[in-house]
Formats: sequence, C-alpha cells, structure tokens
Amino acid sequence: MDSESWKLLRSVCILSFLLGSFCVYQSLHAVVAAQEEQDTQPSVTLQVNASNGAGRLIPDTLFGIFFEEINHAGAGGLWAELVSNRGFEAGGQNTPSNIWPWSIVGDQSSVYVATDRSSPFERNKIALRMDVICDGNGCPSGGVGVYNPGYWGMNIEEGKEYKVAFYVRSSDDIDLSVSLTSSNGSLTLASEKITAFASDVSKWTKKEVLLEAKGTDHGARLQLTTTKKGSLWIDQVSAMPVDTYKGHGFRNDLYQMMVDIKPRFIRFPGGCFVEGEWLSNAFRWKETVGPWEERPGHFGDVWKYWTDDGLGHFEFFQLAEDIGAAPIWVFNNGISHNDEVETASIMPFVQEALDGIEFARGDANSTWGSVRAAMGRQEPFELKYVAIGNEDCGKTYYRGNYIVFYDAIKKAYPDIKIISNCDGSSSPLDHPADYYDFHIYTSASSLFSMYHQFDGTSRKGPKAFVSEYAVTGKDAGTGSLLAALAEAAFLIGLEKNSDIVEMASYAPLFVNTNDRRWNPDAIVFNSSHLYGTPSYWVQRFFAESSGSTLLSSELKGNSSSIVASAISWKNSSQDYIRIKAVNFGDSSVNLKVLVTGLDPNVMKVSGSTRTVLTSTNVMDENSFTQPEKVVPQESLLEMAEEDLTVVLPPHSFSSFDLLKEPAKIRKPVSDSSYQKTSTM
Ligand code: AHR
Repeated sequence: MDSESWKLLRSVCILSFLLGSFCVYQSLHAVVAAQEEQDTQPSVTLQVNASNGAGRLIPDTLFGIFFEEINHAGAGGLWAELVSNRGFEAGGQNTPSNIWPWSIVGDQSSVYVATDRSSPFERNKIALRMDVICDGNGCPSGGVGVYNPGYWGMNIEEGKEYKVAFYVRSSDDIDLSVSLTSSNGSLTLASEKITAFASDVSKWTKKEVLLEAKGTDHGARLQLTTTKKGSLWIDQVSAMPVDTYKGHGFRNDLYQMMVDIKPRFIRFPGGCFVEGEWLSNAFRWKETVGPWEERPGHFGDVWKYWTDDGLGHFEFFQLAEDIGAAPIWVFNNGISHNDEVETASIMPFVQEALDGIEFARGDANSTWGSVRAAMGRQEPFELKYVAIGNEDCGKTYYRGNYIVFYDAIKKAYPDIKIISNCDGSSSPLDHPADYYDFHIYTSASSLFSMYHQFDGTSRKGPKAFVSEYAVTGKDAGTGSLLAALAEAAFLIGLEKNSDIVEMASYAPLFVNTNDRRWNPDAIVFNSSHLYGTPSYWVQRFFAESSGSTLLSSELKGNSSSIVASAISWKNSSQDYIRIKAVNFGDSSVNLKVLVTGLDPNVMKVSGSTRTVLTSTNVMDENSFTQPEKVVPQESLLEMAEEDLTVVLPPHSFSSFDLLKEPAKIRKPVSDSSYQKTSTM
C-alpha cells in the first residue's frame, strides 16, 4: 500500500471512530433524557384488584356494530352487487323515466332506449326497451347498447369470475355481447356472446353468463351491446363477483374488517333509514325478501339514494349469523321524520313487525317462515332483540304506538327483548322495556368527560343500549385521532358501567367516499380499497371485552387527562390482565400499575405486550394514501417484573396485556393485524 492509500485509510478510520462515538453519545443521551423525562413527568397509579371473586362479568353482548344503509354501506358497499339500478326502477314508475346511472353505448342515430312498464315482475314493472337502428357493419365498432358503471366504477380483478344475469325479450333473434370493460369502454376485460332465436326469447327469458376477467380495473363498467338491428327489452341485470364471503354476497374485505371487531351484536338496518323522511320511503322489510329480481327497491329519502334492496331482511339475518353476532332488528313503528300513523290505526304496522319476526323465527311451514325457507333457509334464524323505531321518543304517537307493539310482541314471543327509543338513563321510563336506546354525537372533550355518564344511572329497570355514539363536528375531521381518544375514554366508562349498559355500538360503520352522507365513519372504502379510521381501531381494543371480567380498579394521582381500566380475559391458551389507558392530554404521563390479589409468581412480564394508538398530531387521520398512519402498534413489554410502570405518550390510547400464567411458547395475544414492532 502506498503512503497516499495509508493516509486515506487512516482518515476513514478516524472519521468512522468519531461518527461511531457521536452515535453512541446520541443514544446514551436519548436514554438519559428519556429517563429524566420519565422521572419528571406526572405520574398516576392504577390499583387493580385481581383477586378471585373481586371482578364482575362484562355482558357477552357489550360491544357490537350498528349497520345502517347510509353512505352506501350496503348498496355499493358490503353488498357485492356491481350493478346499480338493476331493474331500471330508480327513475320512478312513470315512463319514460331516467335510467341513471345506466347510459347508452352509441348515439341517437344508432340506438334508442326508453323505459316502459313491460317487466314480467309484478312488484317492479319498469323494463328497458332498446331499439337498435344500425345494423352489422353500419353500427359503430363494438356495437351499440347500454352500460352500467356500477357504484362509481366496478372493481374488476384479473383472474376473478363474475356472474352476470339478466332478463331479455325480443321478437327478433338476438346477438348480444355481455362485457366488462374499462371505464370508457375502450378496453375489454371480459366478454361473452349471448345469442338466441326469436322463438326462444319471445317471452321474458333469464340469461346467465360467467365472465372471467383478463385484466384489472377498479373503475370498470358492464356493457350489453349488439350490432343486430331490431328491438329488445332488458330487465333485472345483475353482476356479482363469484368470490363473496361464503357465497353469501358480502364483499370480502369489508366483511373482514367487521369481523375483526368481534361484534357480539349487529343492529340493522338503521337509523333514520328505517324511519324515512316520509313513511312512503321507509325501509319496509316485505319489499326486500324473495328472489332478487322480484324486489322493487326503494329510494331512501333520508340519505337520498336508491337501493335495489339486494341486502334485504333475509341477508341481514344471514350476515348476523355469519359474523357470529346477535341480530337486533329495528323496525318502523308507523313514524317517519315527517308523518305518523296514529295509534288507532297502527295495527297493520304491528302485524308487519310480527310477520318480520315470523320470517326470521317461524318454522318452515309458517306463513312467513315458508318465504324464508323458499329462499333456501329451512332452520329459523336466532332473533332475540327488536327495537321499536329509531329516535322517535318525542313523536306524538310514539308512546301509544310503542305499547301496542310491545304487548303484541311479548304475547307472541315472550323471550324477545324489546328496545325503547326513550332514554331511561336520567329518569325512569314511563313504559315497559327491556332496554332503552341512548345516542350521543358530540365534541371530543364532551365525550371524553362522558366517561362518567352512567356512573349515577339507576341500576333498576331496563338496561341501556348505547346504539350510536361518536365524536362529530370539527374535532372529528373525517376520522381523527382526537375523536378516537375521546371515544376510547367513553367506552372505558361504558365497560365500567356494564352492569347497566349491556350493549354499545359506534355509528356509522361504513362510508363509500363517493357519497359521504354522514361524517365521520369507522370504515372508509371505495370500489377496491378501504381503511379504518382511528375510531375503528379503538373498537379493536375492546374486541376481547365482551364476556370477560371487569376488575375493580382505582386511578390515583393528579391527572384529569387519564382514564384507565382493567379487565381479565383469556384466549384459548392464556390468561391475561388487560390494562387500557387513554392519555387525552398533550404531555406524557407515567402510569404505575399495582396489581393486588394475585400470586406474584403468576404474573409474568415476559411475553406481555403493549399496544398503542397515537400519532404526532392529534388531528392526524388515515387516508387511502396513508391507510396506516394512525393504527395500533404492538410491541413486547419490557420492564422490571416488580415495577409495572409504563409511559403513556401524549394523545394516546394504550393497552397492556399482562400474562397471568407462564407462557411456554409465546402466542400472539389476539389474531389482530395490529402493526408489530420489536422494540418499544
Ligand atoms: O348514524 C347516523 C344517524 O344518526 C342515524 O341514522 C340516526 O339514528 C342518528 O340520528
């Protein structure tokens, strides 16, 4: 090596040494600074009594979900049907009508379309007539016809199959192309021909075709085109992905997000959706059962969109069963936002509710049980809860109507638990009920302080069902960390009061960002992507709470921004104590956990975990571009066994799962998809 090279090598070594020393200094400095900070920051102590018998069982039903047809949660969301307005009914019953979102392929010189009332289906008479004016090579290449863009584009994925079904009638031979194409029709993703002689389609005939996509497009459309001159009629066009949850029609990714909350109940189908602005537009279950092509669909005038009602009364019960949640059916009690049926005339509505219960619970030979059986389901569904109306307590005829419903349902089904719309949390109800409904939408600070909401509620009388809660307004953004933290504190309060609060659900659950009717929401999606808001992730922290044991705990110290609790829960292989703590303030707080009543050898720190939901800015949100900006981070808990002191970062929600028994092989605490980090 020449002397120049030696010099260079020596310089590199010196530089590396200096850099290394600097890094070591920096790390030590950080450790010392963190230690100093920990020593100086405020401290609180959570005293937990874990002795046998000191805890209280949390109801099995405590945390569930509220599914409302709002924000296209179902139509254009969980219900995987790709075609919107499949029966051409959305434009109304007067023909010719608007066929939106259908549109024509070609122009007026080559094709003419108009609705008429020639459908074979009694409850939805509108069908589409298509007059093809061009012929053969005289038609634009690719043909003319109609296309449906679905709900802001169909998610068509390469290699996946889609079942397209429709009804057709013509007095001519037909030669139709059924295609899935890119959003402007220029690229064909899948296509099949349907040909038939006039004699075979002179009456309405159902045609089905399976399309396998050769490409992917998240904004695709379905086309029905031809180059054959003549007239034909089309009705009830459906395009369903073959791959839905168990083939039951639920979009897999949205379904999975719901299941991961481990909901113990599902309240459905609304909300205001059940009431309607006017009774004539309310959700009426009988219009949503039977073969899909016979359902009339309806315009939900509160959230202002049309639903084909593919997700109907039957499908809701199927969904509840699939996700392992108790169904809670909310039905209309003869009251909408703007009109009411007086009590003297309420019997038809009562009968409708009784029939809806029979549809779910009746045997296959009963009048309505037989309709369910004809839909492929012999055994009854389990239905144990119904709610009489939504937010109608203050309406003129609510109490009168309620009693008629209550008496009739209890007489026919004494075991069914009935939920009243009137709030019994501050004063007793003036009518019988098993539960009263409690809804709260408010600011973050106010929901945070509602941690104590049910502390003073009478323990006599009906139980509380907090069926809608959320932080709304400025604090919520479109799903902020701030909102989620306040909700976490509120939920800890509910958990602590679960001797009186037996059920709770966030609202709303879903939003398709193409038609946001309510903000914020827990799960945000479009045709192909989705993410959970921080409020969604907070609910995941409570997935193990229902049916577990609430440990008595007391928070001591001087921090009004901290809310904490302890439960004991088990999975198939381990017992845990879970401490949950919200730090609503903007500085770190030390939390010392003192567990009494346990054999000291039982509690093992090794293998215990910490899960934290926080972010650099309390108004941070997730988005399609950053879906995991604010998601829980899980890590192993490192601390001295005798000193369970943990740091609660500013604006954070933390949960600590402390192993109660020695772990031979460390199993994941839950089957969650939390972010895992190896250090703290
Ligand atoms: O969750 C959104 C709406 O809020 C519900 O439809 C209604 O019950 C409440 O007013």
